[in-house]
Amino acid sequence: MKFFADTAEIDAIAELNELGILDGVTTNPSLILKSGRDIVEVTREIAALVDGPVSAEVVAMQAPAMIEEGRKLAAIADNIAIKLPLTWDGLKACKALSGEGHMINVTLCFSANQALLAAKAGAAFISPFIGRLDDIDLDGTDLIADIRLIYDNYGFDTEILAASIRSVNHVTECARLGADVMTAPPEVIHKLAQHPLTDKGLETFLKDWEKTGQKII
Ligand code: E4P
Repeated sequence: MKFFADTAEIDAIAELNELGILDGVTTNPSLILKSGRDIVEVTREIAALVDGPVSAEVVAMQAPAMIEEGRKLAAIADNIAIKLPLTWDGLKACKALSGEGHMINVTLCFSANQALLAAKAGAAFISPFIGRLDDIDLDGTDLIADIRLIYDNYGFDTEILAASIRSVNHVTECARLGADVMTAPPEVIHKLAQHPLTDKGLETFLKDWEKTGQKII
């Protein structure tokens, strides 16, 4: 499973990248706002830092303008994935830009049929938003299972990028269901390493080690 960081905060990205576990980054207009940075500048910095795909989102609503914005974002670096919303115009732009060889991440996916359309339009990634489905009392992970089944039925190579991940349980469930990628806020990725029994066990080991009076180095 590939791990993407869902943030535009350079320091947090650099820390995850240093551990060698980061396969890419996703941003969106809200994350750019939160960073307080200029979209082109911050995207360029992130793309230089991380080897994998860095998603940058268009904000136009009509296909011709989306295509123009997409080309501008793609020109920032070779590893940019143009993020397009799952609307009819977004699909038109996806077909055109993927045809030009650009990597496309179709975002704001909330149904299996939307995911089917994105795959047919040539998306490299489809981003089902599982947390936002949970927010309206639906089971977001059911959508991951449905898309996995449908893509496997027809051999679509669009990667399922589980997005809007809010908890470590979301990560486990998406991994169980075979999502290709998950994108999560850095805090959630850090929490994956935590377990109270690890902390408790370590405390006991360290106390007992002190009693031995030994040193390793
Ligand atoms: C994914 O690409 C999106 O940026 C993100 O996962 C949305 O998450 P949210 O629903 O927590 O805003």
